[in-house]
Amino acid sequence: MKAYVIQDGFGLSHFTETNLPIPSPGPGEVLIRMKAVSLNARDIGVIDGFYNPELSEPLIPVSDGVGEIIAVGEYADKFQIGERVSPIFTQSWRSGEATQDNWITTLGSPLQGLLAEYVVLPEEGLVRVPHFLTDIEAATLPCAGVTAWHAIVEQGKVKAGDTVVVQGTGGVSLFALQFAKLQGAKVIVTSSSDAKLDRAITLGADHGINYRSTPEWDQSVLAYTEGRGADHIVDLGGGATLNRSISALKVGGQISIVGILSGASVEGLAIVPAILRRARLQAINVGSRDMFERMNTAIAHHQLRPVVDTVYPFAQALEALSQLAKGSYFGKIAIQF
Ligand SMILES: NC(=O)c1ccc[n+]([C@@H]2O[C@H](COP(=O)([O-])OP(=O)(O)OC[C@H]3O[C@@H](n4cnc5c(N)ncnc54)[C@H](OP(=O)(O)O)[C@@H]3O)[C@@H](O)[C@H]2O)c1
Repeated sequence: MKAYVIQDGFGLSHFTETNLPIPSPGPGEVLIRMKAVSLNARDIGVIDGFYNPELSEPLIPVSDGVGEIIAVGEYADKFQIGERVSPIFTQSWRSGEATQDNWITTLGSPLQGLLAEYVVLPEEGLVRVPHFLTDIEAATLPCAGVTAWHAIVEQGKVKAGDTVVVQGTGGVSLFALQFAKLQGAKVIVTSSSDAKLDRAITLGADHGINYRSTPEWDQSVLAYTEGRGADHIVDLGGGATLNRSISALKVGGQISIVGILSGASVEGLAIVPAILRRARLQAINVGSRDMFERMNTAIAHHQLRPVVDTVYPFAQALEALSQLAKGSYFGKIAIQF
């Protein structure tokens, strides 16, 4: 089978196509023919060696995808051959709170990922995906979708009338926008591009702020909310945004700490403003299988369609990752097999 691996170093110059044997399912496992994958900012971090600088053998990258079950191993009886499934991002996190051990079971680093024609996974690490979604749309759910669902619904408990801020117009942000709208919230989107802000408003956002032309976007959030601040902020920028997120927060509001798009540490964390806002800072790490299944129920009920920017054929996986690295997209980049 064809697969892509990172080997003998890091960076896109070490991302190569290869041929590997088709794996066989063992007890409790299934063989999946992949139909589509989608890319996340994390995939570039994996390829660049940020997440696992010790990588010692070829790694198949990419965590998110959808495929069809074509063989089942002994004792695997949860799914039928022909069913369409998505692997969960953190393979061993099925329900309840995660444990430290769960973090070594994430797909596409340290576990082998999905950028291969066939993969074998435990049936317990899979979910059925909503029938009405295309393969490409379904492939966007496991990391970006579940993270946004976890932040907005499971942990954030966003409710009708709340004001939610989402940062940028990438995968997590647009899912967070869509889920917050399902809850009846008002959503403010920040972006470096006015054209992308217009598209976010078409998607349901109530207000857009260009964080490049208005670097004090926190002041704009305060002005928009008549001085109160936002009930919930999904912080995706990290280094350059967390202090502004604190500044833009309502007293008693919550910040979901999710991303590191502008850096993985914050210089001079604004502790006093955080205290004055009684800020709840809640980190999010994707989510469990139960969360994924609850999200799928909501997606099916509301017929919510993920936002896909560009779809590449399998042969152009490098071009897809190059677009991801440039950051020039709205929503998700996907690869069709
Ligand atoms: N903790 C978790 O469980 C978890 C899960 C998934 C992702 N993440 C992290 O969350 C972040 C977003 O992931 P993603 O896959 O959605 O990324 P993505 O799709 O690659 O999002 C890229 C977009 O983010 C926006 N952006 C970049 N720098 C920004 C900044 N300083 N302020 C505001 N927006 C900025 C840009 O939007 P515009 O072009 O509109 O400006 C850019 O197009 C990443 O850091 C990722 O590693 C964490």
